[in-house]
Amino acid sequence: MRKGILTIAAVGLLTTGGLTACSDDSGDGGAAAKTPKIGVILPDSKSSARWETADRRFLEEAFKAAGVQYDIQNAQNDKTAFQTIADQMITSGVTALMIVNLDSGTGKAVLDKAKSQGVATIDYDRLTLGGSAQYYVSFDNETVGKLQGEGLSKCLTDKGVKNPVVAYLNGSPTDNNATLFKAGYDSVLKPKFDSKEYVKGPEDAVPAGDNAQAATIFEQQLTKANGKIDGVLAANDGLGNAAISILKKNKLNGKVPVTGQDASTEGLQNILVGDQCMTVYKAVREEAKAASDLAIALAKGEKKDTGQTVKDPEGGRDVPSVLLTPKAIYKENVKDVIADGYVTKEEVCAGAYAKLCADAGIS
Ligand code: BGC
Repeated sequence: MRKGILTIAAVGLLTTGGLTACSDDSGDGGAAAKTPKIGVILPDSKSSARWETADRRFLEEAFKAAGVQYDIQNAQNDKTAFQTIADQMITSGVTALMIVNLDSGTGKAVLDKAKSQGVATIDYDRLTLGGSAQYYVSFDNETVGKLQGEGLSKCLTDKGVKNPVVAYLNGSPTDNNATLFKAGYDSVLKPKFDSKEYVKGPEDAVPAGDNAQAATIFEQQLTKANGKIDGVLAANDGLGNAAISILKKNKLNGKVPVTGQDASTEGLQNILVGDQCMTVYKAVREEAKAASDLAIALAKGEKKDTGQTVKDPEGGRDVPSVLLTPKAIYKENVKDVIADGYVTKEEVCAGAYAKLCADAGIS
C-alpha cells in the first residue's frame, strides 16, 4: 500500500476538483487517504441496454458531481478483456475498482488482485460469490423477481387465461442476480404450479443473457410446447423483447403476456403497445450515486456504515451492502420512469408511440 511520500506523489498526479491529501489517520490499520480515482468495469452491451445507456451515464454524473477522476470501460462479455482492463486500471493508479462481474470466478480473481495492491473494491450490481469486495451496491434482487412473478400473474388474470402454460427465460447462469430473480419469481409462481393452477412450460437460462440467442431459445420453447405458451417470465426487457419478436412471427404478441426488467426504452414501448405486461424499474441513478459515495469514502480511508449486510452464500461472509428498492411498471405508470429522468419522453414517445403515450397520460 502506498503511503507517505508516495501517496503525495500520486495525489499530485491525480488531483482534480480541489481535493487535498490528508494523512493516514483513519486508524483502520493502514488505509491511506488518497485522492479518489475510480475505475468501473461494465459487463457487456448485449444482455441489457442499461449498462451503456443508464449506468455509464449516471456513474459519470455522480463522479463529475463529486469532482473525482474516473475511467469507465466495458468488457463486452470477454473475461480475458475484463482482467486486462482491471490490470490496466490498477497500474494507472485507481484507488477504487467497481466491477459488474461476468462470473464469480473471474470476478474474484480481479477483486483479490486489486485488494493485494491496496485498491478498494466494490461489487456493483452483481455480488461476486466467494469474492472479497468491501461493499456490494445493488437492488433487492429477490424482490425484482417477486414483482415479475406477481406482474405475470396479474396480467394472466386480466386476460382471463385458465391454467396457463408459463415459460421461463432466465438470465445468465453465471449471474448471481439471475439466481435471485428466479428465487423471487418462483416464490410467486411455484405454488401455482404445485396447485396446478398454472402449468410449468419450458425453462431455459440464456447464456450471458444474450438477447439475440434468447430469440432462438424462445422459438425452440414455443415449438417444444406446440405453440401453447400463455405467459413468459422473461428476466429482463431484452429477453422479453426477444420473446415478443418470436410471438410476433406467430401472431401471438399482445395475447401472451411477457415480463421484463430495466425499464428500457424498448421495454416501455412494448408495454405501451400492449406486447409486454410489465417491467421492473431500478433507479440506476441512485445505485450509481451510492457506489460513487462509497468508492470516494474508501479512497479517503473512511469506513461507511451501510446499515445492512448480504450473506455471500459461497464465502460465508456478511458483505456490507446498499440494496435499493425496485418498482413494478405497467402501462399506467410508465410516466413515472420518464418523470424520474431515467428515459426521456422524446425517446419513448417517438413517432407511432406519441399517441400511445398520450393515452397513457404521458404529457
Ligand atoms: C442486472 C440486470 C440486467 C442483467 C443483464 C443483471 O445482473 O441486475 O439489470 O438486466 O444483469 O445484463
